[in-house]
Formats: sequence, structure tokens, C-alpha cells
Amino acid sequence: MNKPTVLSGIRPTGYLHLGNYFGAVQNFIRMQDDFNCFFFIADIHSLTTHPTPENLQSGVKQVLAEYLACGIDPEKATIFIQSDVPEISELYAFLNMNAYLGELERTTSFKDKARQQPDNVNAGLLTYPVLMAADILIHKADFVPVGKDQEQNLEMARKFAKRFNRIYKKEIFPIPRPYTFGGGDMIKVPGLDGSGKMGKSEGNAINLYEEPKSIRKKVMRAVTDSGPTEMNQQKPEAIENLFTLMDIVSTPDTVAHFDGLYNKCEIRYGDLKKLLAEDIIAYTSPIRERIIEILEDDTYLAKVAKMGAEKARESAVKTLQEVKDVIGFRKLF
Ligand code: TYM
Repeated sequence: MNKPTVLSGIRPTGYLHLGNYFGAVQNFIRMQDDFNCFFFIADIHSLTTHPTPENLQSGVKQVLAEYLACGIDPEKATIFIQSDVPEISELYAFLNMNAYLGELERTTSFKDKARQQPDNVNAGLLTYPVLMAADILIHKADFVPVGKDQEQNLEMARKFAKRFNRIYKKEIFPIPRPYTFGGGDMIKVPGLDGSGKMGKSEGNAINLYEEPKSIRKKVMRAVTDSGPTEMNQQKPEAIENLFTLMDIVSTPDTVAHFDGLYNKCEIRYGDLKKLLAEDIIAYTSPIRERIIEILEDDTYLAKVAKMGAEKARESAVKTLQEVKDVIGFRKLF
């Protein structure tokens, strides 16, 4: 029996951070043995923020090295760069014909971006979920391991897939589903600034590539409050966030210890932060060392990208041909 197909991607706009790692990459790594996996670098998506050619190039190289350093195995999974597969852009053009202004304008990510960059509300931002749907559907992905922040974009991809199948009266695309290894909820890794998610554009991220010194500094500066005043009081968001991060990187005993101190109003945030920083460093240090090593090996990176592009195109060409056939493109001459 064929293995189900899994696909996910990351925009190359900086370094991978703990949110990317725990929200997407880690799930993905655990799936590479049992699924037909595609993991890609969304360089076309990153153009919505107008990177310089130099930044685009170095960003792609960095993410590629980071994927490999995290443990994505190019012999098992197909690792590729979005712009190496022109079939994605072609499918994007076709899907755009059945994507409507109203529904695109209503997506939260569009509204957020339009607020964040009012001088650059470009059409690429508006149709961002359509390109994302093309990424997913070109490989007929069954599962998409992403963080909570991508839930709505994934919902749009499901909608576009169903719509296409309905219009052309053929089950061309499977309906992609979100996926977390182990079956838990999609996660949202919080930032260190007291509210919201960890993110590149939020400026509150801890990167996998970050030096231990810098991790300690960032964690020690994380927003807290003056401490609980009543036994068993509910934690405010900033404190809850620190505990969520601890849940992710520390042992259950450590979390229970600090939770107990909080509930007894005996917590010292400085102690918690020190331990949290060391636990994050224990996680990221080996990855950081591998990133440094891999970044030096351009020949290996080029080989991985070439191999990935070939495998990804093989799958994409097939789907695109089916799509063009049902749409009605015919070779007349
Ligand atoms: P991007 O580059 O913003 O993030 C990449 C992945 O990391 C996850 N993530 C998080 N998960 C949990 N907590 C966080 N704080 C956090 N921050 C980021 C994201 O959910 C995502 O899985 N549009 C996508 C890239 C993309 C894509 C796709 C993903 C393009 N086409 C097709 C899946 C399938 C994006 O901008 O992710």
C-alpha cells in the first residue's frame, strides 16, 4: 500500500526559531519513516516582504542547512526549494481563478499583515493562501504538520481542494488535514514578550542558531510580573507563556516543581528563567553545531537541493498534467 503523503514548509526569512521547530519540524522528523514526506523552503512566499536578492539567497541556504541539522533526512524525505518547482506557480494561477476576493480579504493572516505593513499590501499577500494551497495540492498531500497559526490557511487549502474537485467533478485532490505526531492539538509556541506567539516578524524569537549567551540574555529579559499574591491564583498570560515554554523543553518534574512554588507564592522567576534558559540551550546547542558544520559544505547543500528538486518535480508534473486535462487544456497541434 502507498504511504500517505505529508507536506510542510517554512519561509526563508531568517533563522528557524523554537516555534518553527516545535510547531512543525519536530512533528515532521518523526514522520519521515512512515510517510511519503515533502519538506520545502517557501522562497516565493517570502517575496511578499520584498527581500533583497542577497537576503533571499542567504535565507534559503540557511533554512536548508537548518532542516538538515534538525534531522530531516534527504534520503527519506524530499527536501526542495519552492521556486525549483515551476509547476507550483502554474497550479497557483489556476487555483486563483476560483478564489474570491471576499474570502481572501477575511483571512486573519491577511488582515494582520495588512496592519503590520500598510504600505505594502500587495496581491501576493492577498493570495498567499492560494499559493499555499498549490504547495499542498501539487503533491496531493494528505497531511500537513503545521503550528496553530497556520490553521486558517490550511482550512483555505481544504476549501480550494474541495471546490476544484466539485467544479471539475473529479476527486483530483485529497482533502489535506492538519497533523500533529501523537495526535495532540496543533501547538502555539509563545514568545517571551508577554503575549502572542513566537515569530520572526514579532521580534520575540529564540533561534536554533542562537548562541547560548544570547539565549540566556533573552530568557532573563522575558516579561514577568511582581509575583502571585494569593495561593493557587491563575497565572497571567506572560507567566503562563513561560510555563508553556518550560512544558516544551524541560522535564515534567521541573515544571511541577515551579508550578508548586507558584501556587504557594514562593516562586522566584529568576530561578525559573535560569533553568529554562539552560534547558533551551541543551536542546539547541547540538543543532547549532550541526548547522555551522553543514553551512560550510556548499557542495552537499547543492546536491541535496538538486536531488529534492528532481523528486519534487516528478510528483508535481504528474498532478499538473491531471489538472490541465480536467480543466480542458488540449494539445491541438
Ligand atoms: P512560517 O514560515 O511562518 O512558519 C513555519 C512553520 O512553523 C510554524 N510556526 C509555529 N508553530 C508553533 N508556534 C509558533 N510560535 C510558530 N511559529 C511558526 C508554522 O505553523 C509553520 O508550520 N505559510 C507558511 C509556510 C508555507 C506552508 C505551505 C506550510 C507555505 N506553504 C504549505 C505548510 C504547507 C509560513 O509562513 O510558515
